[in-house]
Amino acid sequence: MTAVVIVGAQWGDEGKGKIVDLCTEHADMVVRFGGGPNAGHTLVVGNDKLVVRLIPSGILRPQTTCVLAQGMVIDPSSLVGELDELELRGHVQVRKLVVSDRAHAILPYHVLVDGLREQGAGAIGTTKRGVGPCYEDKAARRGIPLGALRDRARTARLVATAIEAWTPTIRALGGTPPVADEIIAKLRPLADRIVPLLADTSKLVERAVRDGKKVLFEGAQGTLLDVDHGTYPFVTSSSAVAGGACVGAGVGPTRIDAVIGLAKAYCTRVGGGPFPTELTEAIGDRLRKAGDEFGSVTGRPRRTGWLDLPALRYAVGVNGLDGLAITKLDVLTGLDTLQVCVGYRTAAGVSDDFPIDGLDGATPVYETLEGWKEELAGARSLEDLPAAARRYVAFIEKHADCPLAIVSVSPKRDDTIVLKSPFDTVRA
Ligand code: IMP
Repeated sequence: MTAVVIVGAQWGDEGKGKIVDLCTEHADMVVRFGGGPNAGHTLVVGNDKLVVRLIPSGILRPQTTCVLAQGMVIDPSSLVGELDELELRGHVQVRKLVVSDRAHAILPYHVLVDGLREQGAGAIGTTKRGVGPCYEDKAARRGIPLGALRDRARTARLVATAIEAWTPTIRALGGTPPVADEIIAKLRPLADRIVPLLADTSKLVERAVRDGKKVLFEGAQGTLLDVDHGTYPFVTSSSAVAGGACVGAGVGPTRIDAVIGLAKAYCTRVGGGPFPTELTEAIGDRLRKAGDEFGSVTGRPRRTGWLDLPALRYAVGVNGLDGLAITKLDVLTGLDTLQVCVGYRTAAGVSDDFPIDGLDGATPVYETLEGWKEELAGARSLEDLPAAARRYVAFIEKHADCPLAIVSVSPKRDDTIVLKSPFDTVRA
């Protein structure tokens, strides 16, 4: 096993940070392949905590090369800000960070448009980091690949063209178009920092995989936020599914050895959009507090709800999951009973499929499972769990139709039941 993809199997925030951190201990390379500063995870650096949005946590491990691949959109000021923060703490080995010269630059007009749109009727609850408008520019073939930063004149031309294209939209939204020269002037010192990190990362990643190095592809957001497979239009603008690793990093599907999906023992969602198992009463608050469900990028309270097994099975399918990592099982401790969505009632009857295109007219069908009161921290094997918690994870495994690989029972690194380490997950 050398190339492993880890993706979120729900609406993002599945607790990737801890699981990716565990896996990077064994990884030679960690590759982010999509999204941008809309993702976020907390790095613990000595006694400090630092939220990073672009740089993977592998940056703290001396043996691990971190790659920001071409499927990403990167805000130069965010990237340099993160590098500065890490350097201040004496922790970053810049030579271990490589950035694709084909990843696209998020520039101030992207952030401006994202923010203006979020003030209007069409708001969907984005992170307002300019991610959507930057991918729009990329698809419209007027984006700015980071490689353009090597050439000042080319950058200036591209920025001027993009501002011209965005000006009617910005005005219609009540904003003031930015001045190209100001953007260019601010970009210059950032470009000086970023250009030395640029490379053809797909060559680097492909070679690492071919050489048998342990390469971890770290997904961002989650399956149900994927632009093709999520709850459109309440989605992000990139590929968050496992196939996105191939497209966004430049490796062929035959090179991927295993795909691990992460799912919380319940569900959360930030931003707007359908969330059929959402809990709006006290129990939702309880999950939010117990699970510390507040966005790491925006600080927004996350919506919380019961586990949705049809949605999870859908994620198992579209990602081709080989193993499931269940996170935050401990957050459910103390509840007398647990509801789990096992199917949906629609006009056509009851089905155990996730009605991705008809969620408005679908009602979840629940099964009730027994809860548990015992602390889970300290469990190192499934046998260490209380019987009801064991039954809960077995129920998930059966209904999701995917083998369990990992069960996380507290935020601490050691409080993890590893049934199959991702780099040992052998496909049947
Ligand atoms: P955008 O990616 O900022 O355009 O936001 C689009 C949708 O994806 C919004 O509902 C965001 O809340 C959601 N989203 C984006 N990134 C994340 C993430 O890392 N975790 C959870 N939700 C996210």
